[in-house]
Amino acid sequence: MPKTQQSNSKAEPARKNGNASAKLRFQSGFGNEFASEAVEGVLPRGQNSPQNVEHGLYTEQLSGTAFTAPRGVNRRTWFYRLRPSVAHKPFEAISQGNLRSAPFDEVPTPPNQLRWKPIPIPAKPTDFIDGLVTMAGNGATHAHSGVGIHIYVANKSMTDRFFFNADGEMLIVPQQGALLLRTEMGLLDICPGEIAVIQRGIRFRVELKEKQARGYVCENYGPLFRLPDLGPIGANGLANPRDFLAPVAAFEDREGDFQMVTKFQGRLWSASIDHSPLNVVAWHGNYVPYKYDLANFNCINTVSFDHPDPSIYTVLTSPSEIPGTANVDFVIFPPRWMVSEHTFRPPWFHRNFMNEFMGLVRGEYDAKAEGFVPGGASLHNCMAGHGPDSETFEKASKAELKPVYIKDTLAFMFETRFVCQPTKFALESSELDEQYFECWQGLKKKFDGSVG
Ligand SMILES: [Fe+2]
Repeated sequence: MPKTQQSNSKAEPARKNGNASAKLRFQSGFGNEFASEAVEGVLPRGQNSPQNVEHGLYTEQLSGTAFTAPRGVNRRTWFYRLRPSVAHKPFEAISQGNLRSAPFDEVPTPPNQLRWKPIPIPAKPTDFIDGLVTMAGNGATHAHSGVGIHIYVANKSMTDRFFFNADGEMLIVPQQGALLLRTEMGLLDICPGEIAVIQRGIRFRVELKEKQARGYVCENYGPLFRLPDLGPIGANGLANPRDFLAPVAAFEDREGDFQMVTKFQGRLWSASIDHSPLNVVAWHGNYVPYKYDLANFNCINTVSFDHPDPSIYTVLTSPSEIPGTANVDFVIFPPRWMVSEHTFRPPWFHRNFMNEFMGLVRGEYDAKAEGFVPGGASLHNCMAGHGPDSETFEKASKAELKPVYIKDTLAFMFETRFVCQPTKFALESSELDEQYFECWQGLKKKFDGSVG
């Protein structure tokens, strides 16, 4: 395995889900101005681009937003690296596999409720990039609007292959198997129960910490994920900034016959490169990949009655130009107490303006007694009626309303303003549950119209 040199920055607090992180160090905070150096004294003091950098390093800036974006959302990072990122051969188009991108117009989008069983992990050697299977999406990559929703299934590490996504940032939600993400800024490891975000343009490769890996990816073409405003909740709550962890500088000094793959305007391209692009010795800035342990989410819910709207569970949001109408929200349904009185406690029956792609990391989801399993997915688009299945409805209608702890569960939602258009693969896959509609057919009329 290639040698990586990591900085000696201060260690950060232990995490609840992650146990693979014991040897890695992080910097804590969301959107901070971080600084890290794997070799002491490399970071220039008092300026970004000196005439010469210590140890003969090259200076490079990576801008994640327009130069003139307002200060609060402006993101950029300065690199000090062995070679600049331009040093590679030209890109050539390569096979897309099951990866798709906007516009999602392969097949008509049905108005039906849709549900899928888990996509199987392939038998043949498949790395994170080859194992991306696109389920649905919307918007337009060139317009920086919308999302691509993928499931990854992999059994092989990327060693001599690197990737960056020019179309959007990638929110990775592992469901099975821990991953080690080696990025330009350093190392992040994530296991089921944690997430990571790697922003547009950042070079990385994915190593598997276990034999197999499966999970979900929200490819956000829109504005960068940020923490939601808290309004009357106050200054604290939901996902707290200090629980987000950024890497410390770590670099590979490696030469060989490597490939650098990029997703650009919906297609995959590959270029030969004779060295590792993960060659950043020091960096400073606020455009930085991060990880977050979902067990740190401070869940807020009713202590009186009724089930609040699920926006109360928003971890991260990518806004649109319409106030309160997200390009995409990342929402979780973690372990929590249910204490509401005289209330039907599971999610109610509903039809929404927004579009909901759901996945399950572990356990069961409280609106579905069966059929929605870890690694699977469901999609309820604009105005598609959905809610608890017949069995869950009957059970919850008669349940004794004592405090109940919903444990060992972790469902999530990518909620988007545009309709999620499934891919041809998703609609023709044998994993599509053709009988999904049956779960609501037992909801019979109970109305008793008799007078007196
Ligand atoms: Fe819903």
